[in-house]
Amino acid sequence: MSSIERDVVIIGAGASGLTAATDLKKAGLTVAVLEARDRVGGRLWTDDIDGATLEIGGQWVSPDQDALIDTLAELGLETYSRYREGINVYLGEGGERRTFEGEIFPVAPTTEREIVSLIDRLDALVAEIDPDRPWDHPQAKELDEISFRRWLETQTEDEEARRNIGMFIAGAMLTKPAHAFSALQALLMAASAGSFSHLVDADFILDKRVKGGLQQVPLLLAERLGDDVFLNAPVRTLRWSDEGVTAIADGVEVRARRVILAVPPVLISRISYEPPLPRRQQQMHQHLSMGFVIKVHAVYETPFWREDGLSGTAFSPYELVHEAYDNSYHGDPRGTLVGFVSDEAADDVFRQPPEERKARILESLSHYYGEKALSPVVYYESDWGSEEWTRGAYAASFDMGGLARYGSDLRAPVGPVHFSCSDMAGRGYQHVDGAIRVGHETADAIIASLAPAGTASAS
Ligand code: FDA
Repeated sequence: MSSIERDVVIIGAGASGLTAATDLKKAGLTVAVLEARDRVGGRLWTDDIDGATLEIGGQWVSPDQDALIDTLAELGLETYSRYREGINVYLGEGGERRTFEGEIFPVAPTTEREIVSLIDRLDALVAEIDPDRPWDHPQAKELDEISFRRWLETQTEDEEARRNIGMFIAGAMLTKPAHAFSALQALLMAASAGSFSHLVDADFILDKRVKGGLQQVPLLLAERLGDDVFLNAPVRTLRWSDEGVTAIADGVEVRARRVILAVPPVLISRISYEPPLPRRQQQMHQHLSMGFVIKVHAVYETPFWREDGLSGTAFSPYELVHEAYDNSYHGDPRGTLVGFVSDEAADDVFRQPPEERKARILESLSHYYGEKALSPVVYYESDWGSEEWTRGAYAASFDMGGLARYGSDLRAPVGPVHFSCSDMAGRGYQHVDGAIRVGHETADAIIASLAPAGTASAS
């Protein structure tokens, strides 16, 4: 066991921890980043699977994500647009296949009116929510006591409209069933992206990708930090007091003045604290849980759907794969589709043997794209639920009532212990942009607390 001393020890080499470490080092502080895995990036992971470059974790960048966009520019990373030429596919309740352009699905005119009206009402409510302080909304408590599903039922009798609007937050974002999270949590999700309309607009929210993969961000940040990043170093114990901390990981022990827990909030209690964290934190962290989604890649010899005039964008609140896109990798002549199987549907297919699960998922894709979708040359399911150092996807959210009750304390430091993660962000919540944003803010707070009065921050 080696023993070292630093100003700040950062636990977790995801986008958030590495951003904070970079800022702290720029400000002249010494850092050590302790990472449990044998790689950096956490939920960003670009890998070659059977000869295809796939984004196993996060990949898309939207135009409002300026913290991420600034980091991409700083690291010299280039982006490219998601393929989106042509028409989109929607499957109705009976499986009837309809094509459409724009954002509103081809549903009956009455349902369309309900969808448009719900989007307007949600946009108006979201405009009243500060994503960094949703608990300050005058109706925060009431909105946190009602599930998003129940709230939708109070707004419209149209089940197809409810399912479609529900899908954008439930299956597509929080990846929990709409009965399992509150209306306030749903509004935070939309406010974190600027508006509910942004979530509905795939061309906005899933706009760009990064050449070489989004894991380039943590890889390049870690490269600059060099020997200050320690892999295969899960932190098991954290001793803390007003004088500082000692983080004890496999193979290395770091004494420091401050610590940043840059891990998903559901993993905070995996670490033993001496003394224990205060009761508020011990309670609060039990009220957050990860969503669950399977991200499925299917690579084909050619992007055959383009020949049929299809963009690759497909939705249905009635399908196993509720949304799918053309995810062909930059420079690869083959065609790649990515589809998502969320929450209870994911539980359901994970009860089946792998071959049956694959067959069911491909069958669902074939409902959108035709028979050719049944025969990919590469097939891969991201299973973040089995990853010990993540335990779900995409991110963590509060249970019913938890956001109004605990939200304001989520990022409050406890003595020398600071917290930083995308799952604690306001703007960019559950996204890489939020991870980076919170990383900068946490570093600034530590720099301010350690520096003599009047010293400037790093970012
Ligand atoms: P992250 O979880 O990445 O990092 C935490 C790190 O801490 C990990 O490396 C972990 O190993 C480590 N760790 C945990 N416990 C530890 C311990 N005890 N000791 C040491 N290390 C420990 N976002 C987006 O912007 N666009 C997108 O398209 C998508 N899509 C998407 C798809 C899928 C499948 C997933 C899973 C996620 C996304 N996301 C996304 C979300 C995005 O990937 C995510 O919000 C950020 O990468 C999270 O970064 P953080 O640094 O906050 O946590």
